[in-house]
Amino acid sequence: MLLKEVLKKYQRKEDNLIEILLDYQAIKSNHYISKEEIIEIAEYLSLPESKVCSVLTFYTFFSDKPRGKHIIQVCKDVPCYISSQVNVLKTIEKELGIRVNETTQNQQFTLEFTSCIGCCEAGPAMRINDKIYTNLTADKIKAILSEYRVYMQ
Ligand code: FES
Repeated sequence: MLLKEVLKKYQRKEDNLIEILLDYQAIKSNHYISKEEIIEIAEYLSLPESKVCSVLTFYTFFSDKPRGKHIIQVCKDVPCYISSQVNVLKTIEKELGIRVNETTQNQQFTLEFTSCIGCCEAGPAMRINDKIYTNLTADKIKAILSEYRVYMQ
């Protein structure tokens, strides 16, 4: 779906900025908003480009760079860190052969940090796309990633 079609669904109000970004990013296969799209959204809402950029970069669920099909976001906040018996990030990096903020060569996984995702009492936690996983262990992480690899075939 073209950005123009998404924009048509919304009134030209600044209040709609986050909804537009969420809506459009969700339907793009590489889950990001490009520079050209930032300009188009800013023009539609009569906002400065810097306003759209600042919202895009403030929230970890938005990206201005192409990402993989599955976006893995590891919680980096203190409660998860303290409760962690496993280095979640290192386990995923080793499994996928990428570092944080990188995408696998097959474009299937992007690995990122996120701030708290609201599951502090069940940490460590991570989100893959819209699904949250808690009480992570090394074995659980490997099993979860295996499920997504099966979906890839
Ligand atoms: S600190 Fe990790 S989910 Fe809240």
